[in-house]
Amino acid sequence: MAVPDQTIPTHPAVEIQGVTLNYFTPDRETLALANVSLTVEQGEFVAIVGSSGCGKSTLLSLVSGLLPPSRGSIRIDGKEVAKPSPRVGYMFQKDTLLEWRTIIDNVLIGAELLGIDKIVARRRAEDLLVRYGLGDFLHSLPGQLSGGMRQRAALARTLCCEPDLLLLDEPFSALDYQTRLALSDEVAGILSAERKTVILVTHDIGEAISMANRVIVMSRRPGRIKSERKTDFPSFGPTRPTPFQARKCSEFANYFQTIWDELDIHQIH
Ligand SMILES: Nc1ncnc2c1ncn2[C@@H]1O[C@H](COP(=O)(O)OP(=O)(O)OP(=O)(O)O)[C@@H](O)[C@H]1O
Ligand SMILES: [Mg+2]
Repeated sequence: MAVPDQTIPTHPAVEIQGVTLNYFTPDRETLALANVSLTVEQGEFVAIVGSSGCGKSTLLSLVSGLLPPSRGSIRIDGKEVAKPSPRVGYMFQKDTLLEWRTIIDNVLIGAELLGIDKIVARRRAEDLLVRYGLGDFLHSLPGQLSGGMRQRAALARTLCCEPDLLLLDEPFSALDYQTRLALSDEVAGILSAERKTVILVTHDIGEAISMANRVIVMSRRPGRIKSERKTDFPSFGPTRPTPFQARKCSEFANYFQTIWDELDIHQIH
């Protein structure tokens, strides 16, 4: 008797094909993205940089299934995205903590919705919050936290349900420089150890180069993909350096200069 083929097809984690997005408001139509195509492999860490308003957050909303594209298609694990999925963790640019719930209860929202075992979820939530320096604020309300603390709570909430694909929209932007470096090092370590697929949006070129395997540069609105570049650090050796180590590698400055030039930030529009 023939043995059924048990091989699981391996699709890229995310396939964005010819995606265009128009926003319609009563007074105008805004072409936010024009013909964007991008493939992200399983376990890959991709960073997207581009000037303000070029459509980075829009692109994440499309991948998350919160917004349908005007044209083109988006697939996750080979399946067309139709609605948000629990396997996708989306950390919004603006934290969406619920002001009436304590920090621990905010972090547990996703686990509650998914029906994950309460004790397991709580242990994981507490562990993440302690690791992110919020151990004394489990029972505080979001309004009692600083911007950076809220951002760390939102990151803990995104990671708590252990999604396979993470969409992180400027997750470290409200943090002071030192915390930002320490946390990006820690988060990159966790995500690569767990083989997560990540799309990170950031304005920080150094963060993009040091954390991601590939950096995508988007053009000004309407957003298009202007360039993409793998960030390898052969001077470090056969393994990937941590973000902190990557910043000290000889390749770092070259990547920084090239991406800086491509971003064309000298003019503010
Ligand atoms: N809900 C909306 N309705 C109408 N227009 C929108 C909406 N959201 C975004 N836009 C417009 O779409 C364009 C892209 O916005 P988006 O937020 O994706 O940019 P971004 O690259 O994330 O910018 P930033 O770096 O400032 O966060 C902008 O011109 C913005 O004004
Ligand atoms: Mg944005």
